[in-house]
Amino acid sequence: MSPQQKALVVPHKQGNFELSSRSIPSPGAGQLLVKIQSAALNPVDYKIKDSGSYVTHYPAVLGTDIAGIVEELGEGVENFGKGDRVVAHGKFTNDFTGFQQYTLTAASFTAKIPANESFDSAATVPLGLDTAVVGLYGDQFGAKITPPWEEGSGGHESKKPIVILGGSSSVGSYTIQLARLSGFYPIITTASPSNEELVKGYGATHFFDRSLSGKQLLAAISEVTDDPINLVYDAISLPETQSVAWELLADNGTLVLTLAASVKENEGKGRRVVSTFANPHIPENEELCSSSWAKVEKWISDGTIQPNKYEVLPNGLEGIIGGLERMKLGQVSGTKLVAHPQETQ
Ligand SMILES: NC(=O)c1ccc[n+]([C@@H]2O[C@H](COP(=O)([O-])OP(=O)(O)OC[C@H]3O[C@@H](n4cnc5c(N)ncnc54)[C@H](OP(=O)(O)O)[C@@H]3O)[C@@H](O)[C@H]2O)c1
Repeated sequence: MSPQQKALVVPHKQGNFELSSRSIPSPGAGQLLVKIQSAALNPVDYKIKDSGSYVTHYPAVLGTDIAGIVEELGEGVENFGKGDRVVAHGKFTNDFTGFQQYTLTAASFTAKIPANESFDSAATVPLGLDTAVVGLYGDQFGAKITPPWEEGSGGHESKKPIVILGGSSSVGSYTIQLARLSGFYPIITTASPSNEELVKGYGATHFFDRSLSGKQLLAAISEVTDDPINLVYDAISLPETQSVAWELLADNGTLVLTLAASVKENEGKGRRVVSTFANPHIPENEELCSSSWAKVEKWISDGTIQPNKYEVLPNGLEGIIGGLERMKLGQVSGTKLVAHPQETQ
């Protein structure tokens, strides 16, 4: 029998999580086998479990945010060695997911973790950062802004305002940080008052309470800038935040959403609505995300990108079950939950 590992699986569509065992896969060309030390949780994990969407094969292993140690290298993988500490963005194919003890990763979406950063901290980066990257810079799934790391983009967005709804969410936090890198100013965000310092630490220049109505927020923003708001990134994208975003957005502006649109594109004003899709493995995102992943080690190391605050869940993989419940109930604020698969009993 091939070597086995523990995995948290959804046994069938909309089934309850259970602990199971599955074989440890071998890396193919361009892939790494990683022993997972930290796996971060995302809303998409409970959404897939509850709705049965997206995943077609069961039992299914979920989890896309992976940090661990390289065990084996597939053919043609350069720049990584056995024993390296790495962070990677998985995908919803069982051998490439985080809620298990070993996973394969694609070298293009794997980065070394700088010595000053923990596995837990690094695991908070992949999906949140990629959602910000694709939402801002993607051609098909984003606002089509020139990435600031591309030659000739210098100061491109300088002095243009951006509004990011939900700055304390994981996606919002990385969007603030990239907005700063792109040169946007002011960077206006919303969150609960308890997270004002957190979002300012990420680079937001102006904070407003998330409970303000669209009209109240518009009035408050008019005190900050006279420029039209041509870009709103709604990291939350519930119907209520989308309608606030819609009130703020100028004619010909772009609204980036993380969920499906409930607002209707208004042709008269030429406004564009784009629902982002952050999977780096799809052809539409591959080139952009390969270029951003090539920067991740440096960005984390020099503080350009600050990982999220995190809380480690008890009980290894089984701790994920309660963690996802708390996320679903809206009980997690400004924090990423992280599990330790190797601590599974
Ligand atoms: N399309 C894609 O590819 C993609 C990728 C990743 C995520 N997503 C989706 O994007 C959304 C955000 O994901 P995430 O991982 O960033 O979530 P998260 O970190 O779990 O979100 C929690 C945060 O949401 C904030 N929040 C909730 N309601 C808010 C509101 N009305 N206004 C402002 N802030 C609000 C809370 O802020 P306070 O505690 O400060 O109130 C809390 O800090 C989820 O729906 C997720 O499924 C989509």
